[in-house]
Amino acid sequence: MPQDPNQRFRIRPLEADDASALYRLIVANRDHLAPWDPHRPEHYFTLEGQQEHVAGQLARARNGHDYPYVMTLGGALIGRINLNNVVRGPLQSAVLGYWIDSEHQGRGLTTQAVRTVIDLARDELGLHRLEAGTMLDNVASQRVLINSGFEEYGVARKLLKIAGEWRDHRLFQRILHD
Ligand SMILES: CC(C)(COP(=O)(O)OP(=O)(O)OC[C@H]1O[C@@H](n2cnc3c(N)ncnc32)[C@H](O)[C@@H]1OP(=O)(O)O)[C@@H](O)C(=O)NCCC(=O)NCCS
Repeated sequence: MPQDPNQRFRIRPLEADDASALYRLIVANRDHLAPWDPHRPEHYFTLEGQQEHVAGQLARARNGHDYPYVMTLGGALIGRINLNNVVRGPLQSAVLGYWIDSEHQGRGLTTQAVRTVIDLARDELGLHRLEAGTMLDNVASQRVLINSGFEEYGVARKLLKIAGEWRDHRLFQRILHD
């Protein structure tokens, strides 16, 4: 892909109007995401499926359960980054998740997005701790977390059903008030 130094990378909150761009991106990245994603029904890979998915995420956001964002480059949507399963009270914690378009990998963009979300989580959302889990062989995702100041604190056996199988995960956390 040609590099344009004037293209501006940003993250911003997910909007209902993002569904059609997300639909195109999800279809184009189906093979790229499949090894790291839960099994998705065929309906997920349709425009209607993405509209429903986005509507569901926005409903959870309105209730304060999730903070869903998109990554954009020069205004075009190129990835997702989310804070999910927000727990308030004495925990003040959320689970971080992300993916980026395969053509935009390896340029430091996800690391930049994670660092931006860390600042948002601490300074605007008042969170104290972020956690993230990666499959044992997802070295790229582990590098993103380590380069963003996350520490590994263990391995959870058979934590998530990914691509149809219960998979062990390396667990990472970032304390926001150290
Ligand atoms: C994981 C993912 C988000 C990384 O996005 P990215 O924009 O390429 O990440 P960055 O460019 O910011 O950083 C990638 C890091 O991984 C490293 N890396 C990439 N592939 C690697 C590999 N196969 N082995 C070792 N390191 C690798 C890069 O060198 C870089 O580390 P460095 O800066 O220390 O050199 C992207 O590959 C993706 O979307 N994967 C599919 C979905 C997914 O796995 N999501 C996360 C689930 S936990």
